Amino acid sequence: PIRRTTTPQIRARKGGDPIVSLTSYHAHTAAIVDKYADFILVGDSLGMVMHGMDSTVGVPLDLMIMHGRAVVRGTKRALIVVDMPFGSYEESPNMAFRNAATVMKETGCGAIKLEGGARMAETIHFLVQRGIPVMAHIGLTPQSSHVMGGFKTQGRDEDTWDAHIADAVAVAQAGAFAVVVEGVVEPLADKITAAVEIPTIGIGASRNCDGQILVLEDMLGLNPWVPKFVKKYGALGPMIEQAVSDYAGEVRDRSFPGDDQVYR
Ligand code: KIV
Ligand code: NA
Repeated sequence: PIRRTTTPQIRARKGGDPIVSLTSYHAHTAAIVDKYADFILVGDSLGMVMHGMDSTVGVPLDLMIMHGRAVVRGTKRALIVVDMPFGSYEESPNMAFRNAATVMKETGCGAIKLEGGARMAETIHFLVQRGIPVMAHIGLTPQSSHVMGGFKTQGRDEDTWDAHIADAVAVAQAGAFAVVVEGVVEPLADKITAAVEIPTIGIGASRNCDGQILVLEDMLGLNPWVPKFVKKYGALGPMIEQAVSDYAGEVRDRSFPGDDQVYR
């Protein structure tokens, strides 16, 4: 049997070959990503990307579990990391453990991710000590968008850098095996990467992070608008539109179904 990538293997990639990761929410896309990615994140971005929400704040735990299961079923190599949604872990280490254990048991994922730096260090330590590998997430943390006043690039003011670096150091010391660094200016991301001995996974961060992650649907070009940090490697939106419009036209002019699509 092919064994999945483990959290210590990801941890050991610090300073080595770049870690490749993408999000995925479904068995079919996950099966493709599984051939190329070191880990796959079932991100709570699914609330916005797949379910039409304005932010990730409304994503419930059971939705993460359903998508997490689908991704685990569709894959066999990559480490699967599932996001803990807003409201499922912040209150206390006990609450975080209970919900994270449920996610791991019900999905079969290998790790969870949660947002927050120094303020979440106690919780990260509590979870890791009890068998739950944690990926941290600092910088722009979308679950705090109502406090931050939107999705704002962090670190434009150099006075804030020490706090962000302290966040990274705190989650690393607490036992996180890697840390997502999102939406920060590149020189700050570089300082963060230099400050910790765990891999930094950048998104809108730096060319020098230990790995990179993007939202799959964004890089595939499914959505017309994407943030500056996304590079579109595909044009799925226009491709789907063309296919749907061709189909509609052929149904209307009775060229579909054709000879090949009927049982004689
Ligand atoms: O939810 C998500 O997709 C994420 C990544 C963008 C890091 O947290
Ligand atoms: Na997320």
